[in-house]
Amino acid sequence: MGVVSRTWSAVLGVGLVLLQSGCQVAAPSRPSAGFPRSLSAANADAPVPSTFLWGVSTAGHQSEGGDTTSNWAAWGQQGKLKDVAGQSVDFWNRYDEDFRLARGMGVNAFRMSIEWSRIEPVKGQWDEAAVAHYREMLAAMRRHGMTPVLTLSHWVMPAWVDAQGGWTNKDVAFRFARFVDKVTRDVAPDCKTWITFNEPNVWLPRDYLLGMLPPGKKGPINFGKALRNVIRGHALAYDRIHAVIPGAMVSSNVYQIMFGKGQPSTESTDADLADTNWFYDAMHTGKLPGKVEPEEESLQINIMGKLDYIAFDYYWTFSSIREVLNIAKPWALGYKPDHLETVLMDYHRQYHLPIMIAENGMATDDLKPRADGWTRESAMVATVRAMKRAMAQGAQVIGYSHWSLTDNYEWGSFSPRFGLFSVDCRNDPTLRRVPTPAVDAYRRIIAGGSGIVPPQPVGTGAATPVQATSATIPVRK
Ligand code: BGC
Repeated sequence: MGVVSRTWSAVLGVGLVLLQSGCQVAAPSRPSAGFPRSLSAANADAPVPSTFLWGVSTAGHQSEGGDTTSNWAAWGQQGKLKDVAGQSVDFWNRYDEDFRLARGMGVNAFRMSIEWSRIEPVKGQWDEAAVAHYREMLAAMRRHGMTPVLTLSHWVMPAWVDAQGGWTNKDVAFRFARFVDKVTRDVAPDCKTWITFNEPNVWLPRDYLLGMLPPGKKGPINFGKALRNVIRGHALAYDRIHAVIPGAMVSSNVYQIMFGKGQPSTESTDADLADTNWFYDAMHTGKLPGKVEPEEESLQINIMGKLDYIAFDYYWTFSSIREVLNIAKPWALGYKPDHLETVLMDYHRQYHLPIMIAENGMATDDLKPRADGWTRESAMVATVRAMKRAMAQGAQVIGYSHWSLTDNYEWGSFSPRFGLFSVDCRNDPTLRRVPTPAVDAYRRIIAGGSGIVPPQPVGTGAATPVQATSATIPVRK
């Protein structure tokens, strides 16, 4: 396991402890929702609206390859990562093929990031070739019949921003807004759906509280400054996007931390949502979290209501802190698709906004079968059914996006595989995209085959028992 994976585990552990202890900085304000003891009888077979975004999610540093100007590239050059992204799956050059593969499943929305480090590799200097390249990528996406969902910051920043203190610097939100302005005008003036920051509730504690990744800052003061500046950066980006693109939808996706006690079981564990919503609550109340430092007092930015939809990433349900600390092996973590119904209903009731599942995926250890029996396809089918049950009860879900189109660089390691198409980045110089059985499953889901039955997992994790209404998806052994 790479350095990053170990870091990642520690951060989530600390994050949970902080959240559960009611830490000042990330003060919980969302009441924990107990998960239902039995599944609702809501209809999981109804079709989704025609505007529904069936997507795949990707991120620049993880898939583009050839990053030399970001802080992650710098971290790698300093020998602090076991595996570096390198060429990864070379999405930067193979985007047309990847769009064709996505569209072949019926996908109509493709989430990718526009990397600040490519657009502004040196402070104050736009790289117009990179701007044009991204523009061509988006044009190709449109030609394939898909709409973009664009992320403006997916854990990575230009090395020069990092060198100036990253998100603790009191000017960083304005620099970010300048980049966002450039992107909305020159790269994607017709993009409607935006994500400013990917999972601030993950990378802020990891990179600014524990300081184990660039810029390596530690402690609650740095953490507090960084998270307030990210909220300010989001609010400024929100205004810039809306100034250029009428009717745009802007959000930031949070990582949904679910904490269940006891063994994973089908439908009856006691489980709670850890409070991951300080970000949304800030926009909802107009109040920044934590104690504003003197240097921040001049930063008067209105954050109230700067949120058009809720977006979250749905992965594992942790059964103990010990298990959280094991996240370096995501293929060993419990998966409970049914909890998604409660998560969606909880967001629906609390914020009354449209909701997007910005990421959902299933990890394997280099394609080996999971001990709990879940396959990517069985998990996806059960997850979509849980989503549809929430929709049948009124949750306004506008999209589901699978992480990820291909295997890619999993932040320090290539071992966890999340791809609908597998790619052996370490051993296959041709980077061939090999379809997994989940490709056909997703194609059938999108085509409306809601009666697809997930095969029953064989281990301790358990699938949703659903009525057999149509064909069974082949299970990869
Ligand atoms: C992140 C992705 C990551 C995925 C799988 C999400 O938390 O946004 O970058 O690859 O999880 O671990």
